[in-house]
This record gives sequence, structure tokens and C-alpha cells, in this order.
Amino acid sequence: MDIVLSGIRSTGNLHLGNYFGALRNFVKMQHEHKCYFFIADYHSLTTHPTPENLRDNVKQVIVEYLAAGLDPDVATIYRQSDLPETAELYLLLNMNAYLGELERCTSFKDKIRTQPENVNAGLLTYPVLMAADILIHKSTKVPVGKDQEQHLEMTRNFANRFNRLYKVDYFPEPHPFNFGDSLIKIPGLDGTGKMGKSDGNGLYLADEPDVIRKKVMKAVTDSGPVNPNQEMPESVKNLFTIMQIISKKDTHSFFLEHYNNCTIRYGDMKKQLAEDIINYLEPIRNKITDLSANDEYLQKVLKRGAEKARESAAKTVKEVRNIIGFKPI
Ligand code: TRP
Repeated sequence: MDIVLSGIRSTGNLHLGNYFGALRNFVKMQHEHKCYFFIADYHSLTTHPTPENLRDNVKQVIVEYLAAGLDPDVATIYRQSDLPETAELYLLLNMNAYLGELERCTSFKDKIRTQPENVNAGLLTYPVLMAADILIHKSTKVPVGKDQEQHLEMTRNFANRFNRLYKVDYFPEPHPFNFGDSLIKIPGLDGTGKMGKSDGNGLYLADEPDVIRKKVMKAVTDSGPVNPNQEMPESVKNLFTIMQIISKKDTHSFFLEHYNNCTIRYGDMKKQLAEDIINYLEPIRNKITDLSANDEYLQKVLKRGAEKARESAAKTVKEVRNIIGFKPI
């Protein structure tokens, strides 16, 4: 059994792409491994959110993850800033992280380009804080997207460097958690790439039915097939892909047949697809509504999560302090 840690960005609502991508796998994974899920609210400070935004974002993230099926009785779900141990390990790991490697990190170089007015030390040491998150539980597996693989590699470097420096075999090497074929890619509604890749191409778990209807009706298509069995343009293929995942089999084959004999009416297809998505998301949307109105429950979940997470975090920090030489004199 692995110790699996997932760090969750505390910005942005979850869309269908997130749901069929990592999220559904998280829900499964929590029963198969010792799982920690935490909301990376310290990390979000690199962009200077207002206190209200910070609080609202954390709440929205916890609500949506719980609504999608993360179970606080099974996994440990907590907020990064509820673990002071992480901050201490971050401090200690910083002594062993070199300016050159931090400056070479791709995400840091991107930030220098995209927000030159706010290149703070937190951005530079972002990978060190992420390493602290991971190593605090001696995690062995971390589900990460492509954009986070370099950070995970840096974490392995920091872990190995610590072990070498102190001649111990203390930190295990964390590796990417691979979902294999179970990652379903949901395309966007604008005829290009993945959902969430560009603004306005996503359907969000919290979207009201009318919003979903409007978005789906506006999805990009073409003027329709003229020859039987004509190759579909990307935009239409995307709608069929979503339909295949969400709708009944018969529905999908019905519209496919009409496409292939050139009698398809995209308006009808979109209407059907919108209703199927609305039905599919209804239980999640209802949970989001209920949880959003129940701060007391959310506080309880986070309190329990922090208590559970701090058990393992406190143990690690104690051992690390001892290894480094902070011991009674
Ligand atoms: N950097 C991650 C992201 O942007 C979030 C994150 C913070 C994280 N700490 C982590 C992910 C530790 C995995 C493990 O998505």
C-alpha cells in the first residue's frame, strides 16, 4: 500500500474535465491506499489573494471535492495552512535547495514572464514548499499532471540530498501516481483541446442547469455533413465524445447514425446532451448546495483532517530535527 498525497490548487471551480480526469480516480484510490488530500492554500499566497478570496476559494474547493466523493472518514482531507509542521520542514529543506536549480525551474521561469511585477521569494521556493508537503508524510506516490512533474523530480532531489547529507535512509523517493487508462479526457466546447484549457470552454460541476443549457447550445459545430460517413470536424467529434461518456448508449448511436446519413440536427443533439449532463451532475450539484450552506460541518471535516494529518507530520518533523542535530544538549 502506498502513501499517496494529492495537493489541490485552491483556485478555480472544478469542471467536467477535472471530474472525469483525476477526481473520479481520487475517489477510487482513497479506498486502495493511505491517502492524504490537502488544499494548497499557502501556495496560493504567491499571487496575493485578498483574505476574502482566500477563504472563499478554500471553502469552494473543499465543498466540491467532498461533493464529488472524497470521504473524510476514509481519507485524510486537510488544509495546508493547518499544518505548521509543513512550514517548519519547508524552512529546513530551504537550507538545502540551491538558487541555481530553483531559478532553472520551468514554472518559475514562466512566472517571471507572466507576472514580472511580482517575482517573490515564495515563487522561487514554491518547489521547496511542495517538497515539504510531500515529504512531511513520507509519501511514495503523488498524482500529478505534466506541469508538476518537474516539481516532483525536484522533491526527489531534495529528499536524496537530505539522505546523503545526513547519511540516513530517511525520506523515500516520491514518484508520480499513474492512473493508466482510467484517465478520461473530456474535450472543451469550443472545438479545441481539453476542457479547461481556455476560458469559456468548460462545464463546471456547480453550473446551474440553465447555464449548462446555454453553454452546450453555444458549443462550436459546423454546418453539418453533406456526404454519408463524412469525417467529423474536431468540434463535432468533441460533442460526440462527451455524449459517449455521459449519455445512454442508445442516445449516442442514434445521433451518430443521423450524422452518418446526413440527417443530424445539431440543435436536437445539443438539447439532448445538455439534459443528460444536467441529470448526470444533479446529485453532485445538490451536494454542493447542501455543503455550501453547512459551514459547521466543513469546519468539523477540516479539524479532523488536520488532527489526522498532524500525527504523521509531527512525527516526521521530530525525526528530521533529531537527524539534523536539534536534540537535547
Ligand atoms: N503545485 C500543485 C499544483 O499547482 C499543487 C501542490 C502543492 C501539490 N503542493 C503539492 C501537488 C504537493 C502535489 C503534491 O497543482
